[in-house]
Amino acid sequence: MPAKIIGLGRAVPDPVLTNRDLEQRIDTSDEWIRTRTGISERHVAPEGVDNSDLVADASRRAIEDAGLTADQIDVLIVATATPDTVFPSTACWAQPKIGLREIPVFDISAACSGFLYGYALAASLIDSGRARHVLVCGAEVLSRVLDWNDRSTCVLFGDGAGAAVIGPGAEGDGLLAHTWGADGRLAELLYQPAGGTRKPASHETVDERLHSVHMQGNEVFKHAVRTMSQASLSVLEQAGVRAEEVDLFIPHQANIRIMKAAADRAGIPMDRCYLVIQRYGNVSAASIPMALADARAEGRLEPGMTVLSAAFGAGFTWAAAVYRL
Ligand SMILES: CC(C)(COP(=O)(O)OP(=O)(O)OC[C@H]1O[C@@H](n2cnc3c(N)ncnc32)[C@H](O)[C@@H]1OP(=O)(O)O)[C@@H](O)C(=O)NCCC(=O)NCCS
Repeated sequence: MPAKIIGLGRAVPDPVLTNRDLEQRIDTSDEWIRTRTGISERHVAPEGVDNSDLVADASRRAIEDAGLTADQIDVLIVATATPDTVFPSTACWAQPKIGLREIPVFDISAACSGFLYGYALAASLIDSGRARHVLVCGAEVLSRVLDWNDRSTCVLFGDGAGAAVIGPGAEGDGLLAHTWGADGRLAELLYQPAGGTRKPASHETVDERLHSVHMQGNEVFKHAVRTMSQASLSVLEQAGVRAEEVDLFIPHQANIRIMKAAADRAGIPMDRCYLVIQRYGNVSAASIPMALADARAEGRLEPGMTVLSAAFGAGFTWAAAVYRL
């Protein structure tokens, strides 16, 4: 029984930070940000709102959308690069907020590819009979790990969560094909240098601004286009689905130019590519499930449609999937 997304939910903190707001804080412009990235605004979690709060809000909505109750969830997987704490997992903090039973809950760290990594894990758990309903939530509070004086990174990211309940589907439904991979030799192109055990927090790490996102944007850009398009082509072939049969392409939303290049190389026109980057910025692991929830709410995603998703993120990690909702 193929693993199918049977419920979706998304959550964003209320405060919105527009490009115009950023113009007041740093040397940037709305025009630069929109043309280079496609972003117009992003949500920023206020103090007191934790990643696990966003996980809980999105998850409760996804469970309700699936027509289930919290006690019917067998496993919770949270994909995040911005956990509440290094340990325990964000999933543990979120578990009582969602009202789940004493089920296994854990985080996975695969950056922007996290949701698609989670979908593959959920499918394995369902296929093996170890679980019937797996809740996979991509959630980020990236605003807390940005250097707000670094204009080359702080304009790019936002906060939010998207959750999917994954359960057994009928023949021809659900996950048709999946691919994933990683190349850790490229880890230093995009990472948060301090805060782990290699460089624990100290006065020096704070003074040197090592607790924020460090990125070589141009290099990341090139690898993103290459791996997202290769993963897309490979997963389409594996599924036996032609590009023209894809009803909707929902890629990870890091930059409009990356998405255009990946869609072009995969042979999918932009009118079949669903975009949310303009309103959320790059929300890393949350971008695909948030986009799925919005696409369905807007009537762009209907039952039986064939969806292609592809993601790329720090690590570097990548993944792609062809699936039917
Ligand atoms: C970050 C990114 C938008 C930069 O765009 P770019 O077209 O490559 O721009 P560059 O880095 O070449 O910078 C061009 C100029 O804009 C400037 N600039 C950078 N950020 C700016 C900002 N927010 N506002 C105004 N100017 C800015 C640079 O300083 C540079 O100026 P210079 O030519 O005088 O040195 C782009 O590289 C990118 O999207 N990379 C991938 C990032 C990503 O997706 N990360 C997450 C992966 S999941």
